[in-house]
Amino acid sequence: MAKKHVLGIDIGGSGIKGAPVDLDKGEFATERERIPTPEESTPEAVAEVVAQIVEHFGGDIAKGSPIGITVPAVVHHGVVRTAANIDPSWIGTDADTLFTERVGRSVHVMNDADAAGVAEMHYGAGRGNEGVVLLTTLGTGIGTAMFMGGELLPNTELGHLEIDGHDAETRAASSAREREELSWEDWAERLQRYYSHVEDLLWPDLIIVGGGVSKKAEKFLPLLHTRAPIVPAQLKNDAGIIGAAWQAQHLG
Ligand code: BGC
Repeated sequence: MAKKHVLGIDIGGSGIKGAPVDLDKGEFATERERIPTPEESTPEAVAEVVAQIVEHFGGDIAKGSPIGITVPAVVHHGVVRTAANIDPSWIGTDADTLFTERVGRSVHVMNDADAAGVAEMHYGAGRGNEGVVLLTTLGTGIGTAMFMGGELLPNTELGHLEIDGHDAETRAASSAREREELSWEDWAERLQRYYSHVEDLLWPDLIIVGGGVSKKAEKFLPLLHTRAPIVPAQLKNDAGIIGAAWQAQHLG
């Protein structure tokens, strides 16, 4: 297999998914592997699953290549600092060191939305855009990634802006639409409030909307009115894995 295949792993609330990524093409080199997230998703339990995934792809990934991993939390210089939608025991965990020691390869851990953003900037909807780009992922929470001149400003956490007295993601994430059984129109109203607020603060040149629900972008994006163009992500569910692999490779 070509030397540039780097393993990316996405740690989510229900599944831990990994695939070797072809960084020339920005796509999976082989089919991904998915293992359910352990019920008690402590760092140690998750590290076991990560090790299984690394073992599964052992022969497919470049010798000595680093591994990129995403978590749905702030990752400040390799240390997990928040746990909005993951086990609280992650807070304070030096995830880079934990995984590196467990799998015996250099591991780089990053925020899930930042990873999705990196992938979209290099291979997807943000490609070639040198301006201010905001990627939002609409899922259990709202994840955000910001870029300027193609460079990531890590850990922006704009899903937690307080809007109308609420943590924004509790009202406008995709999970809120499901939980409250909102129509697309009613959900779009909440998204409108969210994006208008963010636009007034940051004035992005482009807004990219990712997360599983972006597969159904035609149901809600046409209902939104933003100053900047707002477009669906192109890499869909693969973005986190691809972005994490890209970042790991470029950090060495
Ligand atoms: C977390 C972010 C994460 C986002 C999407 C938020 O609740 O605070 O770190 O990127 O959810 O998973």
